Amino acid sequence: MSNKFKRDELINQGLYINGKWQDAQQHFAVTNPADGNTIVEVASADKTQVESAIEAAEHAFKSWRKQTCEQRAEKLRAWFDLVMQHQQELAEIMTLEQGKPEQEAAGEIAYGASFIEWFAEEAKRIRGDILPNIKDNQQSRVIKQPVGVVAIITPWNFPTAMITRKVAPALAAGCTVVIKPPSLTPLSALALAVLAEKAGIPAGVINIVPTQDSSMFSETVCAHKAVRKLSFTGSTAVGSKLMKLCSDQIIKVSLELGGNAPFIVFDDADLDIAVEQLIACKFRNAGQTCISANRVLVQQSVEKAFVHKLKNAMQKLVVGKGQNKDSDLGPLINQDAVDKASDLVDDAISNGARFELEGGVDKQLGALFYQPQLLTSVTPAMSISKTEIFAPVVAVQTFDTEDEGIDLANDTEFGLAAYFCASATDRIHRVSEALEAGLVGINSGAISHALHPFGGFKQSGIGREGSHYGIDEYLEIKTLVQGAL
Ligand code: SIN
Repeated sequence: MSNKFKRDELINQGLYINGKWQDAQQHFAVTNPADGNTIVEVASADKTQVESAIEAAEHAFKSWRKQTCEQRAEKLRAWFDLVMQHQQELAEIMTLEQGKPEQEAAGEIAYGASFIEWFAEEAKRIRGDILPNIKDNQQSRVIKQPVGVVAIITPWNFPTAMITRKVAPALAAGCTVVIKPPSLTPLSALALAVLAEKAGIPAGVINIVPTQDSSMFSETVCAHKAVRKLSFTGSTAVGSKLMKLCSDQIIKVSLELGGNAPFIVFDDADLDIAVEQLIACKFRNAGQTCISANRVLVQQSVEKAFVHKLKNAMQKLVVGKGQNKDSDLGPLINQDAVDKASDLVDDAISNGARFELEGGVDKQLGALFYQPQLLTSVTPAMSISKTEIFAPVVAVQTFDTEDEGIDLANDTEFGLAAYFCASATDRIHRVSEALEAGLVGINSGAISHALHPFGGFKQSGIGREGSHYGIDEYLEIKTLVQGAL
């Protein structure tokens, strides 16, 4: 058999449990957001199937944890190679189910694969300590061990990268996983399973159980004695519910939750750089990212010049089907996303905001296509300033002094990402220290990378993903005290 799968050979409709594909009683349709057509019907796991996935992971854990770090690294590396060999096929599947332009989808495949590569290497760097002797006949050591079976729940906005950013460190640490991919975009996840199997990752180490019944999945994994960790990316409201469910059995949690990122433009900023970086940040995935600039805060004296340049740049963005080579933005994910953005914009306009660029729903292209919008005279009290917009809408507020800009930026319960543009080194130092966010972009709107710790302050979450810190989320620390030496 050839090592290369064709695109359609990577599209699966079943549950992947213990290395086997299974059907289910119920099914749900996966639709293409560009035209509303059904791509395929996917099996929807029930409680018994979720439990059997957990049991498969529990069984596989016994041997996976015993593999040497090099054996685990080799398998992850083989998986990385296969994902990159199939970058184009995987990108096409992602565009079909999620809508983002194919080139951007190919970028996400490479980004997602980079976590597999990175953690394949980190598997070999799990270290402990030998502590100084406390008594002359005793020695104390610290070792790290895998936490066990990990339940993983991922979102639709990054159908591949949000899975690999969790699964790769879990596997590198010696854990096994049960994944519930998003019902809107399960195909990218299932395609990863085909390649994981081909890479030699043993049966039961990765289990994928799409289901429309999210509550059933959460309740089942949180009630099962074998599950020792839950990793979730999604909204703060759901994260809070999951944390409560995890409290019964004190299941460890990693939560990557909502954001309300400020993007501050100070009066000493290079405005061309500010515009370029805001475009890169705001319009990635049509604004549907947790680290997207949600509130653009511009120092009063440069507002006019900045908005003029920004409007020019936004007018060049092309909205269209993800398969079109010239599309910068694909459709939004569903009607709820379109309605939410439209309602936030209507509310802002009715409370005094002004359109610099009217944009909005583009019915000619299709119900979910949304042309970029630029609003000024936005205030902190408006809903648009307090809610994750998740659409290509730029909402500009102004401020007078540096302190006022920082206070406005921090005036949110979220703290995932923040951005600012400035040139004075003392200001860069002060503002970097003052912003309450897990990631801060300084004259940079592109801050995601496998090497960067990703996670939030305040209600934006718990824990860090990616980077050399990411593997710690899947490891227990054990202290060994040996006496009578
Ligand atoms: C997210 O939106 O949650 C992920 C964005 C990223 O990894 O860059």
